[in-house]
Amino acid sequence: MSVKEIFETMSYGPAPESAAEALAWLVDNGSSFGHFINGAFTEVGDTFETRNPATGEVLAELTQATQADVDAAVDAARAAQPKWEALGGAGRARYMYALARALQKHGRLLAVLETLDNGKPIRESRDIDIPLVQRHFYHHAGHAQLMDKTMADRAPVGVCGHVIPWNFPLLMLAWKVAPAIAMGNTVVLKPAEYTSLTALCFADICRQIGLPAGVVNIVTGDGAVGEMVVNADVDKVAFTGSTSVGRKIREATAGAGKGLTLELGGKSAYIVFEDADLDSAVEGLVDAIWFNQGQVCCAGSRLIVQEGIADDFHARLRARMDRLRVGNPLDKCIDVGAIVDHVQVETITKLVGSNTSGDLYRSAAEMPTEGCYYPPTLITGLSPADTLMQEEIFGPVLVSTTFRLPSEAVQIANNTRYGLAASVWTENINRALDLAPQLAAGVVWVNGTNLFDAAAGFGGVRESGFGREGGWEGLSAYTRPNREPRELAKVEPKEGDGLPVDAIDRTAKLYIGGKQARPDGGYSQPVWQADGALAGLVSIASRKDIRNAVEAAHGAKGWAKTTGHLRAQILFYLGENLSARAYEFAERIDALTGRGDGTAEVKAAINRLFTYAAWADKYDGRVHGVPIKGVAMAMNEPVGVVGAICPDERPLLGLVSVMAPLMAMGNTSVLMASEPYPLLATDFIQVLETSDVPAGVVNILTGCHGDLANTMAQHMDMDAVWSFSSSDLSGQIEAASTTNLKRTWVNNALSRDWMGEDGEGTEFLESATRVKNIWVPYGE
Ligand code: NAI
Repeated sequence: MSVKEIFETMSYGPAPESAAEALAWLVDNGSSFGHFINGAFTEVGDTFETRNPATGEVLAELTQATQADVDAAVDAARAAQPKWEALGGAGRARYMYALARALQKHGRLLAVLETLDNGKPIRESRDIDIPLVQRHFYHHAGHAQLMDKTMADRAPVGVCGHVIPWNFPLLMLAWKVAPAIAMGNTVVLKPAEYTSLTALCFADICRQIGLPAGVVNIVTGDGAVGEMVVNADVDKVAFTGSTSVGRKIREATAGAGKGLTLELGGKSAYIVFEDADLDSAVEGLVDAIWFNQGQVCCAGSRLIVQEGIADDFHARLRARMDRLRVGNPLDKCIDVGAIVDHVQVETITKLVGSNTSGDLYRSAAEMPTEGCYYPPTLITGLSPADTLMQEEIFGPVLVSTTFRLPSEAVQIANNTRYGLAASVWTENINRALDLAPQLAAGVVWVNGTNLFDAAAGFGGVRESGFGREGGWEGLSAYTRPNREPRELAKVEPKEGDGLPVDAIDRTAKLYIGGKQARPDGGYSQPVWQADGALAGLVSIASRKDIRNAVEAAHGAKGWAKTTGHLRAQILFYLGENLSARAYEFAERIDALTGRGDGTAEVKAAINRLFTYAAWADKYDGRVHGVPIKGVAMAMNEPVGVVGAICPDERPLLGLVSVMAPLMAMGNTSVLMASEPYPLLATDFIQVLETSDVPAGVVNILTGCHGDLANTMAQHMDMDAVWSFSSSDLSGQIEAASTTNLKRTWVNNALSRDWMGEDGEGTEFLESATRVKNIWVPYGE
């Protein structure tokens, strides 16, 4: 090529990164690896190959873990955990700082190894993946240092089982391991079978810095090993990967009392308004969908562009696509590297091949003739219902549709079962900030895309999973309240055959959409007092009543948009009105329970209403200190429609304790009253009716917890289910929740002291909210 040609094309020459050091590290380790258990590498067992997807060459042999290997790793983690916890936050921070430092010192080795194993461009592994890994360990060294002060009421969960994917191998490890060990847990991690090398190199680094044996254990192998880790004696499972495997893991862990966080698939919207800086938006798309060959859970894979500029925008995009350089990932000039494995290439090819709609455009970039590659692709003119607009392709394929009005953009963006991320491109910041809260996504980037930082939580809603990784938000999943567990005792209804206490019949109905409603099935059952007299009849709710109540709760979703100030006033008013009838409620509690502490319970319930009235306008989000010129605003949003099975033992206080935090945070709810003492809830309907609570914000059902738990947990329009029933329904609720992967909060056969401190607090507020991180870069 002549100098003139070079000037004309502005084409870079190749700038290959040397693989020598990384290959030497493999050779030094015999190019075959056992597991890392209890601080040492085990003997190599039955092996499988790990290959460089860009060339097909075998990089190393990895050991397929057996059940005995997984058990040994879990035993090592279990044995190491108490000592690791006892080191204290400051003690752990020293090790984590040493890890962060070592990850910096070996940064280039890790970047090259990652690129060899995964196929991602070295520019990405060198400038994004590995620096973020280091940042994660530094950030969490800080959280370890502060834990004893900032989280004095929390304790580690115990042993964590981690299963991670192949798209960001070391970064996903960091996202999971750093917060886990910072908080005093120990870990058994299984990397993805295609990309285990950096995890093994990390294990080597753990050994080098003298991390106590058993704190981090790594076992390699395929999905069967992942299953073993999930089913092992671990206290918490954290998974990143496909939604289908996430579902299986939810099912496998149902009722086991294990904590669970799931970071799953996505089909993230990339919305471009006509007033956007179009060239920046085009460049943003390069980072949104061609970053890591589109194998990114939050990839901006659905372009939603305003109609008036669509042709212009697509033309600019095609021109940019043609200039993308596809090829050897170790070349520093390369924009798009190799797909992780030929299996993934086939998946992408098949999905794209099955599409018959729209117009397909492939980048004119020169493609390598060997290795696992797929050309950058754009499919325009799709309609929102087309398969490719709905299914995660997990490759360098962008699909596109258009919109006219902002409301339509939101509608199209939210027309997906996923909810991981979204990007909004407009020079009108008012519009962007108006749109961001309306998007069903855990992360929203304004005029940006794929921005990540250890200080900002990351995670999705809907079938993109639940839980957050990173920042303050991510820590609670690795800690638990520091209180003695109390065994759950079944509270049986009183029995009797006496006469009614009241000459005038009082029929306790259900409360749906602000109205007292007869049960759809037409059945009622007697409620007996402790002295055997008939207290009244109560409705038996059926599946149909649940459906009606969920519909009513959806209809009241405007509650989420009311101010905390308004919600506080209504909660105070509820407290006031309950107080006016305190005597009557106390008497009823005493008559039903026979305990004689009704007055104390009513007093506690009034106090609880006041507490959440107080919190309604104070449980704020945060602004995270992320290392960009801009802000990441962590906004607390309501979860949505929440079904809650109330505690049996405290019929009034229990109802109030779950209802009030939900109301305070802007949720609408379907509450199942205490099963043995339902009349307190039905009496409370009158308090709700006289306290300006909008119709549908709170719905109350009575009946059998066990019969209705499944219906609640399976309901596709319910966003979360809580259960504090004295029948342990944890297993069935968690298993049934896989329909839409709703969040669950169940008691796992443990009870709490509702009259005491563990009956209220930030645990409830956290469960009643989810965090949306809105990134707003600014400046010229
Ligand atoms: P996957 O979800 O099957 O694998 C992720 C991890 O889970 C791997 O470590 C795997 O060994 C393990 N695993 C597989 N089955 C398991 C089971 N039953 N129990 C426990 N662990 C199990 O993802 P895969 O097959 O690698 O990719 C398939 C599709 O998943 C991709 O085409 C893509 O659409 C999606 N995916 C999404 C990711 C995300 O971050 N959202 C990451 C990886 C894949």
